[in-house]
Amino acid sequence: MSVQKVAVIGSGLMGRGIAHVAALGGFQTVVVDVSDEILQKAMDNIRSEMEKGVSLGKLAPDAKDEALGRLVVETSLEKAAGDADLVIEAIPEDMKLKIDTFTRLDQSAPSGAILASNTSSLSITEMAAVTKRPKQFLGMHFFNPVHKMKLLEIVVGLETSVGTIKVAEEVGRRMGKETIVIKESPGFITSRINAIIGNEAFHMLQEGVASAEDIDKAVKLGLNHPMGPFEMVDLVGLDTRLHILEYLHKTLGDKFRPAPLMVQYVRAGRLGRKVGRGVHDYQAGEKK
Ligand code: NAI
Repeated sequence: MSVQKVAVIGSGLMGRGIAHVAALGGFQTVVVDVSDEILQKAMDNIRSEMEKGVSLGKLAPDAKDEALGRLVVETSLEKAAGDADLVIEAIPEDMKLKIDTFTRLDQSAPSGAILASNTSSLSITEMAAVTKRPKQFLGMHFFNPVHKMKLLEIVVGLETSVGTIKVAEEVGRRMGKETIVIKESPGFITSRINAIIGNEAFHMLQEGVASAEDIDKAVKLGLNHPMGPFEMVDLVGLDTRLHILEYLHKTLGDKFRPAPLMVQYVRAGRLGRKVGRGVHDYQAGEKK
């Protein structure tokens, strides 16, 4: 099956980024949200990100105009999905909401269309089970900011067919992504590894092995990571990271038990960049 038209459901942080790379990848793209105001904001954001790309010389002005010409917005999910070949869902991380949405999508999308979720943790198999097309269902996990981050994790549910995976790989390639294929499992690859590195860093800080600055410096200069583990957790948000760790602890066992110091930081309200203080202190969005 060759994908011509992509419908993206949700135009928040992730949905607008997915719509951006879909349109640039040559797909007729429709993005859906609950109100025209939200959609307008998303379109303004996509246009301004593309214009930034042009001013930096990373995107040809013609390519930007053509991509914007392929992009439309819609408040009716049924209309948007009605003639889509691929639907990518990027609504909030709430299983009930996703199940309601996929039930509706299954009724309105053509029977040959593929349904995908951008979920960062929920079960693909559970969502697929509410549709009549579990073979044509999978996870397409993008990273924020979508137009800059190279990776696309393709998440395979119990019933996902090989043909569906192949289509998602090709779509990812046209969107400019490198793809990897993984079986559905808690935290996929990236969140699981990131959580354990960050948690170990907190254990080391708690034990007084080194300062937070030096742990970050060691990981950047010695292991060649672009960010230190504390810089990373400050960006993600300590509360978000704690939720992920609690979920991985519950599903994968004791090695993911959240470090007590991290729990204390969250209790103290040191949630990261978004509040100006996490492991490090921030002023006007910059590390002090
Ligand atoms: P967000 O809150 O920024 O955006 C969600 C959008 O969905 C909002 O614009 C909302 O109005 C819209 N929406 C809600 N119900 C809807 C419905 N029934 N129909 C159409 N639109 C609806 O959320 P974000 O961060 O974009 O996350 C979306 C999904 O992507 C979640 O499943 C999240 O776990 C996942 N994800 C998030 C990442 C991140 O860094 N924020 C990274 C990778 C995946």
